[in-house]
Amino acid sequence: MKIFLDTANVEHIREANSWGVVDGVTTNPTLIAREGRNFEEVVREICEIVDGPISAEVVSEDAEGMVKEARELSKIHKNVVIKIPMTPEGLKATRTLKDEDIKTNVTLVFSSNQVLLAAKAGATFVSPFIGRLDDQGQVGMEVIRETVTILETYDFDTQVIVASVRHPIHVLESALAGAHIATVPFDVLKKMARHSLTDVGIRKFLEDYKKIPK
Ligand code: E4P
Repeated sequence: MKIFLDTANVEHIREANSWGVVDGVTTNPTLIAREGRNFEEVVREICEIVDGPISAEVVSEDAEGMVKEARELSKIHKNVVIKIPMTPEGLKATRTLKDEDIKTNVTLVFSSNQVLLAAKAGATFVSPFIGRLDDQGQVGMEVIRETVTILETYDFDTQVIVASVRHPIHVLESALAGAHIATVPFDVLKKMARHSLTDVGIRKFLEDYKKIPK
């Protein structure tokens, strides 16, 4: 399973990328606003750090506006993927962009029927938000399992990005469900790498190493 980083923080992206485990990055307007920097400048810098798909989201609500924004954003770097909201207008824009060979990530997806429509419209990626579903008492991972079945059954080229990931179990379950990608906040990635027994083991080995006669 590929791992994308779900952040617009370039320090975090640089650090995680140095671990050799980052395949791409997803941003959204909220994540970019948090950085207090120019939108395009942040996206450009991320593209220089990570050699993989970098999602940048449009803010228009009509298809024409989305397509116009997408054409501009895609000029920033060849790896930019356009995040399009899952609405009828978003589907129209996705189809137009597919025909222009511009990659899309259909976002704010909360049901498997939305996944089906996004895939049919030619989305490169589709992003079900599992944490937000869990928050309101629905099992987000169910949508991921259904999504994997739908995409495999009908041999769609669309890849699922598990989004709105809140903890390492979300990542583990995504991998077990056969998701193509999980996009994870840096904090979750750090939690995935750590284990208290690893830390205890290292301390013990280092102490014992000192006892070896020189
Ligand atoms: C994914 O593409 C989104 O940017 C992100 O996962 C949303 O996560 P949130 O529900 O924690 O805001």
